[in-house]
Amino acid sequence: MTATDELIYLDNNATTQLDPGVIEEMVPFLREHYGNPSSGYAFAAKARKAVDLARERLAALLGCEPSEIVFTSGGTESNNAVINSALQCDPRGKHVVTSAVEHSAVLQPCQDLTKRGCEVTFVGVDGDGNVDLAELEAAIRPETALVSMMWANNETGVLFPVEKIAAICREKRVLFHTDAVQATGKIPIRLRDTAINFLSLSAHKFHGPKGVGALYVNRRTRFHPLIAGGGQENGRRGGTENVASIVALGKAAELAAEYLSADKTQVRSMRDRFERAILERVSGASVNGAGAARIPNTSSCSFEGIESPAALLLLDRHHICCSAGSACRSGSQEASHVLRAMDSSGDRARRSLRFSFGRFNTDAQVDRAIELIPKVIEKLRQMAVPAHGSVVSPVATVLPAAPELSGGG
Ligand SMILES: Cc1ncc(COP(=O)(O)O)c(C=O)c1O
Repeated sequence: MTATDELIYLDNNATTQLDPGVIEEMVPFLREHYGNPSSGYAFAAKARKAVDLARERLAALLGCEPSEIVFTSGGTESNNAVINSALQCDPRGKHVVTSAVEHSAVLQPCQDLTKRGCEVTFVGVDGDGNVDLAELEAAIRPETALVSMMWANNETGVLFPVEKIAAICREKRVLFHTDAVQATGKIPIRLRDTAINFLSLSAHKFHGPKGVGALYVNRRTRFHPLIAGGGQENGRRGGTENVASIVALGKAAELAAEYLSADKTQVRSMRDRFERAILERVSGASVNGAGAARIPNTSSCSFEGIESPAALLLLDRHHICCSAGSACRSGSQEASHVLRAMDSSGDRARRSLRFSFGRFNTDAQVDRAIELIPKVIEKLRQMAVPAHGSVVSPVATVLPAAPELSGGG
């Protein structure tokens, strides 16, 4: 690849590059220290101690006790485990409250509950993606078993005030879970000072590997395992531990804590510079959730006169990776449920692109994105309005032959 062909990876909310320090630490547990942590001999103690250390490192990042961490296969499993446990532990529980903008790893299990006779209230959001706390409180009923509200939205980066929501839930004696998959490693978290009962996270969103995550279960909160088996994880998650990946998660957590406390990361200033430049150079551009508190790495932008699938194709031809909404939806024609919840006309959902930055992005990559994106948007707008003036979908037009962008792009 030449310099101009260099990949510009602006999809860090979909997944992140493994940190070299994480790889270095996990490899010996694939090659040499392959013992089963449950075995009694000295050889396996290495694996057991490494899992313990990972638990301590993650607990330090979250401000909780190591005993409150349960390792899982990722964010999806953690979310499913909480929803399952809350209903199993509360036989009177017939109702769950969540938001309309959750990730499908919460929405789908909640929708499944409705088929099993459990009611679910999906609380809406305003145009900036904020939730109304009075509306949320009013949704809680005597038979509510769980409130589940995400900490940071994966599409817009909008933060929910989860500590306040947790306090409301404690007041009402209802369990509170937060899907913190996009918040972990990006903002400081100190669970010890909160009323949060459960928190989900996933290693691959903060420079760890895919397929490993964790669930925080407050030590005073009852929990019923989703996966029953050999009593691993203190009886809270059956199955032989994925040692190398857990070690990697622990190292990724340690590095994330360093980046957070030393403020080494340039991610926020990169994102802000990118946003300012896009708003300045592209007419009809706006930032989704601009009026809300957001995580520092995410920029969801809406562009008048474009369709996001066509923009993605054209950006891909120029080696820019970003997404239309969540990565799970890419390739599907369905417009983002998050952006539709923020704008019922569906316009923003059709015209938006999500750019998400990470600590491996460089200023030069951001410069190149700032140079290319306005040209791509302009090209799409020209393609969408043919001579007779009627608007056509540029998706088909983009597919057969990618138009070259002028000016080195
Ligand atoms: C907010 C949120 N929750 C849950 C998940 C699912 O996590 P995992 O990929 O580890 O299953 C994701 C992944 O995109 C996410 O962004």
